[in-house]
Amino acid sequence: MLAPRKKLWSTPERAVTAALDFVAPFKEEDVVYDVGCGDGRVLIKFAMLEGTPAGTKFVGVEIDEDRASEARENVERSGLSDRIAIICENALMVDYGDATVVFLYLIPRGLRLIKPVLLGSEGGGGGGRKIKIVTYMSEFEGETFVSKVNVEPAHQKGAGWPVHLYELEAHGAV
Ligand SMILES: C[S@@+](CC[C@H](N)C(=O)[O-])C[C@H]1O[C@@H](n2cnc3c(N)ncnc32)[C@H](O)[C@@H]1O
Repeated sequence: MLAPRKKLWSTPERAVTAALDFVAPFKEEDVVYDVGCGDGRVLIKFAMLEGTPAGTKFVGVEIDEDRASEARENVERSGLSDRIAIICENALMVDYGDATVVFLYLIPRGLRLIKPVLLGSEGGGGGGRKIKIVTYMSEFEGETFVSKVNVEPAHQKGAGWPVHLYELEAHGAV
């Protein structure tokens, strides 16, 4: 039997682990976003990492109401409601001024649209705020990644999909 269609759009476990390897360990002051968080699996795995400080915040943004509800249920079931917030909203309308780490599994057009929003978020501290950005599958056009690893999902033998790490500066609105 086929898996439900929406699960095909979820980051496979090995890719989540690879992304985590790029951004862990988290710091007390980190604010970690999954933009287009789907069922919340990425943030749940991130937040469950042993040694993550109590103050680290996790925020999922999801436009689809059903998926946002599913993410909230999963977060609650994981006992992580005090650490992970799920916002049901168009990601292009969100202020990422506090973001220090961002995970993105979006189509190339989605990455093109979100890039100026993410990098244009000033965050009150002036320009030059560093953000670690991890993309699964697609690249952030016009930017150079600092690390890349290919992962083979357990259900796709022989396939190798890339996880990229970028370290970029939010320059604030221009
Ligand atoms: C490929 S799925 C990735 C899901 C999740 N991040 C994961 O890795 O398992 C992309 C998700 O982005 C959401 N999405 C697409 N456009 C969006 C937008 N403008 N604002 C918020 N979420 C969006 C979709 O509904 C979908 O759940």
